[in-house]
Amino acid sequence: MNFLRMSDLDLAGKRVFIRADLNVPQDDDGRITDDTRIRASVPAIEAALKAGAAVMITSHLGRPTEGEFKPADSLRPVADRLAELLKRPVPLVSDWVDDTAWQSALDPDDVVLLENCRVNRGEKKDDEALAKKMASFCDVYVNDAFGTAHRAEATTHGIAQFAPVACAGPLLAEELDALEKALRSPGRPLVAIVAGSKVSTKLTILETLSDRVDQLIVGGGIANTFLAATGKPIGKSLNEPDLVEKAKSIIDKMKQRGADVPLPTDVVVGKKFDARTEARTCDVDDVADDDMIFDVGPKTSEAIAAIVAKAGTIVWNGPLGVFEFDQFAGGTERLAKAIAEGPGFSIAGGGDTLAAIAKFGIEDRVGYISTGGGAFLEFLEGKTLPAVEILEQRAGR
Ligand code: 3PG
Repeated sequence: MNFLRMSDLDLAGKRVFIRADLNVPQDDDGRITDDTRIRASVPAIEAALKAGAAVMITSHLGRPTEGEFKPADSLRPVADRLAELLKRPVPLVSDWVDDTAWQSALDPDDVVLLENCRVNRGEKKDDEALAKKMASFCDVYVNDAFGTAHRAEATTHGIAQFAPVACAGPLLAEELDALEKALRSPGRPLVAIVAGSKVSTKLTILETLSDRVDQLIVGGGIANTFLAATGKPIGKSLNEPDLVEKAKSIIDKMKQRGADVPLPTDVVVGKKFDARTEARTCDVDDVADDDMIFDVGPKTSEAIAAIVAKAGTIVWNGPLGVFEFDQFAGGTERLAKAIAEGPGFSIAGGGDTLAAIAKFGIEDRVGYISTGGGAFLEFLEGKTLPAVEILEQRAGR
């Protein structure tokens, strides 16, 4: 891929605007439950500071309503964690587009975090006036937000058009390099694990991958819709009746070309979505009307582990069950272990997937961990990521 890299630029004395993806999961009290994305963003910030740049960073957090800032939208917990990691204060600037006083106070070797960019009016629509204004804040725009590269928003796309220089930060560049390398000529069999609550959110991905991979393992609510498509009882489990036909066609299509969608043969069910719900393991044919499927059973876990053990490349997005509750964590844990132990090259991405990787302690044994969720999947789909495309266009200008 042809784009300018931050590491190729002299940033001494430059005003550097870094768009990071600091969209981290938080608990009900706003405490960060997984700081992977913040840690992954540190190298770009440290490199810019070390080079003598004045550094401003921004990110979105969640999906707030533009123009209606609420305390829960604040990057405050992120600023605090970043300050710990950088071992220096990281002031948080609010209302930074309209009130630009912070600009004149920003000197080389200073760093500020600009409050949740998605609260700014025009961010989501990639508004040109907003993009131009933000571009005027900097000499160099650095996109280091792989996780948001599939969004054409003012801080991921528009600003890159108008900033004097636009380049990729180390995290974005590293992600693109690794993913491209792994997917251009993957070791076979190529196995994808696509799990999550809904088929609808991952339909195109499932369809595209069904043309490319040797085995497509589905999990979570997606698996329930596939089970329904094969006539299995799924009780009150999360599923999408409208997409049952689609699921059937994916299964048939893969079968026709000798590929496979291995579905669960046993499952772990509960009566309520609750951490204390009692778990029952049963054959996939024995799911009762009032049961909800929350995990794959041990027989299925072993079958999946065997597939993964033989894979040349494994692409993993989404946990197989409700792994946050220990009684429904078995399938995802077994999968994580198989990925860690298998000889195949594994790439994993997505917020829940990262949390599962952290929970089961296999960070060091996954070939490449992407910080992207949707961006990771759209890359797999072969889609053009607008935030990357604009950097390529700028490099070609
Ligand atoms: C993510 O969590 O996948 C990214 O931060 C993008 O978030 P979004 O789906 O709200 O754009």
